[in-house]
Amino acid sequence: MVNKVHPKLEERVEKENWTEGIERPLTLLDIVTEQPGKTAELAGHSIISSRQFEREQIIQLCRLAAKFETQQSFGQFPLTGKILISAFYEPSTRTRLSFESVWHRLGGDIISITDPSTTGIAKGESLSDVAEMMNHYGDVVVLRDSNNNAIYEMLEGLRIPIINAGNGTDEHPTQALADMYAIFKWRPELLMEDVPEEKKVRIAIIGNPRRMRTVRSLLLLFSQFSDVICEVVIICNRDTGFDEGQKEELENEGLNIRISADMERELPAMDIVYINAIAWVGDTYEEHGLEYKLDKDSPLKSDAIILHPLARGDELSTELDDSKHNWYFAQARGAVFVRMALMSSIVRF
Ligand code: CP
Repeated sequence: MVNKVHPKLEERVEKENWTEGIERPLTLLDIVTEQPGKTAELAGHSIISSRQFEREQIIQLCRLAAKFETQQSFGQFPLTGKILISAFYEPSTRTRLSFESVWHRLGGDIISITDPSTTGIAKGESLSDVAEMMNHYGDVVVLRDSNNNAIYEMLEGLRIPIINAGNGTDEHPTQALADMYAIFKWRPELLMEDVPEEKKVRIAIIGNPRRMRTVRSLLLLFSQFSDVICEVVIICNRDTGFDEGQKEELENEGLNIRISADMERELPAMDIVYINAIAWVGDTYEEHGLEYKLDKDSPLKSDAIILHPLARGDELSTELDDSKHNWYFAQARGAVFVRMALMSSIVRF
């Protein structure tokens, strides 16, 4: 009797580029040589901005993430006895749950605040005083706050590391690491020496780099890989979509950036299509570029991947969930492993 493979599984196997009996393609673990010293440099450091990461640190964090992802069993529990203070003052599904999942999986304990009105902040306590207290209660803080400056105010009173899990419209550096991990898993050849021209990528970002912290942080990481990114096309219909000096900073690092309002014209040439339509601002969210939508009729290259930081709205049709273009769920899944790599590098005995 012939074992029939469910069509969904067949598609997934093909998407993950593996077929029984055929030599498997190279992975990140094959291509990147381990350099533990690079991730060890992060020990004890806070992570506020994507600007802090050197190229080799990004690569090594992705390699370590791949190691965690392929092992699935983490052997020792390096965070046993360590306490994470999880402070999310703004809604989150993925970031909070993935950080907390990581901490549990690595053996640590968690205390959390999901509403600042249940803390002394409601009585006017300063963030630096809250931070002073946190020094005694935990070993690392992960903070999401809609105020761009809150993380800097916390830093003033903290002697333990703090991780920026999204500060207003400014940055979301660990999401950007997760995005890079998805890209390098999809095409690890980008990390080889002398990448052939045909393997280099064109990237569309449908979003607003000025208002979207995910986009801002990702562009900063892209700027370290301008040698393998032919161009980034920002698909955006409102002004230039950049803060003053933001585009110039990226271009000075060698990133080739173009702005276009014509998504349909740009898509057929793109290898990676990153889309997002919301920016959290204050107590609510702004929507950007709702005229741009991806669905099964979008003129995508056959092997193009779609990334989305999620949560999604109408801009990304669920019709694409079962397509080969769907890398957004892998991106969200990989965030656990990249955060595992980051946390185990920052917190060391
Ligand atoms: N990508 C992201 O930040 O998702 P959450 O808002 O669910 O954390």
